Amino acid sequence: MTDFNQSLDRLGTDAEKYELRTTLFGTDKVLPMWVADQDLATPDFIVQALQNRLTHPVLGYTLMSDRLYQAIINWQAQYHYDVKASEIVFTHNVANGFHLAVQAFTEPGDAVLVQTPVYPPFLKAAPHNQRKTVTAPLQWQDGHYQIDFEALESIILEQQVKLLLFCHPQNPSGRVWQKSELLKLAELCLKHQVLVVSDEIHADMTFAPHQHVPMASLSAEIAQNTVTLSSPGKTFNLGGLQTGYAIIANPRLRRRYIQACQSVSILEPNLFANVAMEAAYSEDGKSYRDELVSFLQDNIQTVTEFFQQHFPQVGVVQPQASFLIWLDFSALFSEQSALKNWLIHEAGLGLNDGETFGENGTGFMRMNIAVSPSQLAQALSQLETAKSALPNYQR
Ligand SMILES: Cc1ncc(COP(=O)(O)O)c(C=O)c1O
Repeated sequence: MTDFNQSLDRLGTDAEKYELRTTLFGTDKVLPMWVADQDLATPDFIVQALQNRLTHPVLGYTLMSDRLYQAIINWQAQYHYDVKASEIVFTHNVANGFHLAVQAFTEPGDAVLVQTPVYPPFLKAAPHNQRKTVTAPLQWQDGHYQIDFEALESIILEQQVKLLLFCHPQNPSGRVWQKSELLKLAELCLKHQVLVVSDEIHADMTFAPHQHVPMASLSAEIAQNTVTLSSPGKTFNLGGLQTGYAIIANPRLRRRYIQACQSVSILEPNLFANVAMEAAYSEDGKSYRDELVSFLQDNIQTVTEFFQQHFPQVGVVQPQASFLIWLDFSALFSEQSALKNWLIHEAGLGLNDGETFGENGTGFMRMNIAVSPSQLAQALSQLETAKSALPNYQR
């Protein structure tokens, strides 16, 4: 059994989540619950595999081994996704993968579609590459974000969209897209020749009864129009290792993607990323993942009950996967700056600003709950203390 209760001091490890506090929040006196990086130990069996590799004194250029290809194939098979080794192309991380995809599959000036609210780098991948981002807001309906297919089709036609960057499961809301929704979306994209880049990095942490269905697993035709991106980075807390891969069944697209990698000389993977991925994508990895998922659900329940009891005006979007909670503070604050100030200076918390997730993120904040129960309790108690500093607070 994994002990998720350890309190870990990450100071002195150059951890982005801690070291960027002053830059982002103007003070280092906040509990950081922002970037999607866990304050949980990377599992022992992965650390052990890295230590074993270090017993050999040569750390030279490294290839992806047949074992690693097989580990990815086996891992994806749990989602009934039949992947061939020849379809796998490594990436340095998933964000690197979708930036390269934009370069490889679109031309300068082309429209890249994203559905907001969304993981902020999705909004930037197009402008970073002289393309334009087009946004299609998700609809809030029946307690979930939903895709407005009619609006989406109009946007695709009006803006002549070439590529959809699809977040599956969805960050920040933790929405797990259902098979029927995926089919409808995939068919729409096929109809209008929009390539789908499906970022599935959060998929391993899907909560039952929801199920992860890889977009490219839906049919051979859909696989030909899909680039899947994934990584063990989120589930096993390997962000610092920069690991990831693309699965591209269509040989023409795969060639273009590899050419984009060649253009910036991204040709070889990182030795330690490979070792960690192989260790993660194992039977040990599956058992660990199951324990993690159950732990995360407990933390989500704790946060949900806390808000119900102490801040019933705050909307807690129930994640169906992963460790991010999208919180709607709009009933308490009409100004985003006042919300941010309150969280930083009164509650002492560093969360992700909802506005960075797109225009419909105003009023929201994203909270990362992959922390020990004691750290979570500390964060919630700070929030409770900050209650008296709320505008219009009445005892
Ligand atoms: C949807 C999504 N894609 C990609 C990433 C980044 O992954 P990587 O570190 O592999 O680039 C994140 C990190 O939060 C994410 O949430």
